[in-house]
Amino acid sequence: MILSLIVAASENNVIGKDNKLPWHLPDDLKRFKALTRGKAVIMGRKTFESIGHPLPDRLNIVVSRHLEVAPDHCVLAHSLSDALEQANERTSERTNEVFVIGGAELFGLALPLIDRLYLTRVHVKIDGDVFFPSLDFSEWREIAREEHLSDDEHAYTFSFIDYERKKSF
Ligand SMILES: NC(=O)c1ccc[n+]([C@@H]2O[C@H](COP(=O)([O-])OP(=O)(O)OC[C@H]3O[C@@H](n4cnc5c(N)ncnc54)[C@H](OP(=O)(O)O)[C@@H]3O)[C@@H](O)[C@H]2O)c1
Repeated sequence: MILSLIVAASENNVIGKDNKLPWHLPDDLKRFKALTRGKAVIMGRKTFESIGHPLPDRLNIVVSRHLEVAPDHCVLAHSLSDALEQANERTSERTNEVFVIGGAELFGLALPLIDRLYLTRVHVKIDGDVFFPSLDFSEWREIAREEHLSDDEHAYTFSFIDYERKKSF
């Protein structure tokens, strides 16, 4: 199984404000959908509540210490390792990539474990209350980059940057 993390973060690492995304970037959402469709997505309970419904065409795994019943059409996990086990069991041959999709608490838990990072760097310094944890980029190799200019639908320019963890021999 390949474990991946997908995130959109501003230049000052903001990822959320008032339990919402601080921007609306339709082409970033399209890329998120294309990458995660048919795969398992693991998210913290607050991110699930922020989205408000299970993401279609994906195995939705919600991580919570306190929830006792899984939200409709979701799998409940009580830790990240529980979530990974459930993803492994339930996705079998269907996919070999599992995505951690947020928020900051889940990203913090997942960062030491992930193989790939799909970062959308939003080129703005913005106000927020949830931040992407700091990352040592020397441990990561950039494998792809695509720039997106601002336009009528996108208030900010942004870059899609894919990273792979450098192998340590
Ligand atoms: N820009 C992006 O790419 C992006 C992506 C996703 C989310 N976001 C934003 O991020 C914000 C939400 O992030 P957040 O950090 O506040 O919350 P979160 O990570 O989505 O969820 C936190 C919750 O996860 C559960 N949890 C955390 N650690 C756990 C552990 N070790 N074991 C079991 N359960 C655990 C707890 O749920 P219980 O309290 O139920 O126990 C905790 O309250 C929102 O603003 C959202 O819009 C941004």
